[in-house]
Amino acid sequence: MIERIALIGLSGSGKSAIAPLLADRLGWRPVDTDRMVEERFGLPIPEIFARFGESVFRAAEREALLEATAQRHVVIATGGGIVLDERNWVPLRSGTAVVHLTARIETLAARLRSQWALDAASARPLLAGDLEARLHMLWEQRRALYQRADIVVETDGRTPEELVEVIAAAVHSRAERGLIPFLALASATGRSDLYVQSGLLAALGELARHRWPDARRAFVITDDHVARHWGEPTRRALEAGGFDVSVLRIPPGETSKILTTVEWLLDQLLGHGIERTDIVVALGGGVIGDLAGFVASIVLRGVGLVQVPTSLLAMVDASVGGKTGVDHQLGKNLIGTFYQPHLVVADPTVLETLPEAERRSGWAEVVKHAMIEYSATCQSVVPPLVELLQQRRFEDWWHSTDLDEVIRRNIAIKASVVAQDERESGLRRILNYGHTLGHAIEAASAYQLRHGEAVALGLRAAARIAQQMGLCSEELVPLQDELLDAAGLPRTATLPVEEVLACLRYDKKVAGGMPTWILPVEPGRVVVRRDVPSQLVREVAAALLTAG
Ligand SMILES: NC(=O)c1ccc[n+]([C@@H]2O[C@H](COP(=O)([O-])OP(=O)(O)OC[C@H]3O[C@@H](n4cnc5c(N)ncnc54)[C@H](O)[C@@H]3O)[C@@H](O)[C@H]2O)c1
Repeated sequence: MIERIALIGLSGSGKSAIAPLLADRLGWRPVDTDRMVEERFGLPIPEIFARFGESVFRAAEREALLEATAQRHVVIATGGGIVLDERNWVPLRSGTAVVHLTARIETLAARLRSQWALDAASARPLLAGDLEARLHMLWEQRRALYQRADIVVETDGRTPEELVEVIAAAVHSRAERGLIPFLALASATGRSDLYVQSGLLAALGELARHRWPDARRAFVITDDHVARHWGEPTRRALEAGGFDVSVLRIPPGETSKILTTVEWLLDQLLGHGIERTDIVVALGGGVIGDLAGFVASIVLRGVGLVQVPTSLLAMVDASVGGKTGVDHQLGKNLIGTFYQPHLVVADPTVLETLPEAERRSGWAEVVKHAMIEYSATCQSVVPPLVELLQQRRFEDWWHSTDLDEVIRRNIAIKASVVAQDERESGLRRILNYGHTLGHAIEAASAYQLRHGEAVALGLRAAARIAQQMGLCSEELVPLQDELLDAAGLPRTATLPVEEVLACLRYDKKVAGGMPTWILPVEPGRVVVRRDVPSQLVREVAAALLTAG
């Protein structure tokens, strides 16, 4: 899961010296962003600063980091100022263990002086003048940023060989506990760090504290079902991280996802005197995630948000991507905001208590992701999710450690789309595969059908429409049916076709009176179409809905 180690710290902390030794020890490759920039310009760094200025150097440094973090199994020695650009934290938080090398200022100064005596070109422009004073100043400027590292290693009085062993052991132990994000997502409202690992709930407080060193209170929003099983473990984990915890419970189910509940939650939060530095923890399925995310986005104009998804659907889909909101009587999710969670902590062991029917429902989104994988990621470096899903019976996933990996793969697919199109102006629409008719079916059933059950029917409908329009091969419909059938997802529903079609008109994705359809062309690839004949929609819907 850990694909890289990045060493950060002030000049003189030993990053460039340690990186090759650590890489050697791990059988990985060393990369040095300063060297990469120098090679690109064909000039030493002082010369780049003198001729082009710091901003040009920083832009080149960012490019070097992106290049380095696109590689697997590398140890990256970074430039001391790489932490300054907030955008650099997205690659640094994606499958990368960040190790902060520290030393006393006197040690740093002594190391730098002896280094510069041997190689004058290695002098750093930002350290010109009184070296100790400059180091002190940079430390004060950057201290809080360096503290974001996963691991801090004191280098004073230790040999390089000792340091390599200390770092390797610390990275191994933190990675094994799942305490390094496997992915990070940039957004307009802040970075989302994503963690998935069995057993991780116990470390929730530690992770939240790491993200918010100064936060005092955590408001857990959950529903009665989830609270019964996971309320106390969550409280304990947050208290262990030093949070003062309040748990707010609402009745479970879609019927709670309305403005009245939002008002009640706002009354509670404001009544408890919530402050900007406090955090909201959404502990539950997609209903809680959407609702608590919405509340967190509007209370005091936005507070820190942690998504702790407890249903499969919320883990693979709803907790990632920042769509929040509530339903209106005219349709689902018609009121809401885009607000990325700052932290997503998914612990698949909590699925133990998730009712079987809810597991099946969540599986519909897993199948959806498998069917859009190539379109979403624009690449497939690993075997496609469709193949992975075919390898095991549905019942067997729940006792398999591979479930963590399936959840990560799903999140990576969704995150890849969101990273390219946060506010759904283009690509993100493909995440609605199966949802055009799915949402209408869900609404027409008055939410008696589960979201995933309705989406499964929507997926079946979209594939049949694509087939009738000659967009996909004959084999696609049975292949997708097989994946949905394996999870026991419905093939039909007894609902009046006219009511379902009427609900289509209120879907958010209707533009100019025509619903937007996401249609498959092959497993993993979909296209966006608005020209689906309404007669065809009626026929396909009727075939799925009238059989009882
Ligand atoms: N924001 C998004 O991007 C996005 C994406 C997909 C779906 N959604 C929304 O998600 C909602 C559906 O989510 P859902 O299927 O998780 O529904 P849900 O939140 O209602 O959860 C389903 C049921 O399972 C229970 N539950 C959840 N976790 C449990 C656990 N570990 N143990 C025992 N019981 C547990 C809940 O109490 C509830 O009764 C819909 O409102 C949908 O619109 C949002």
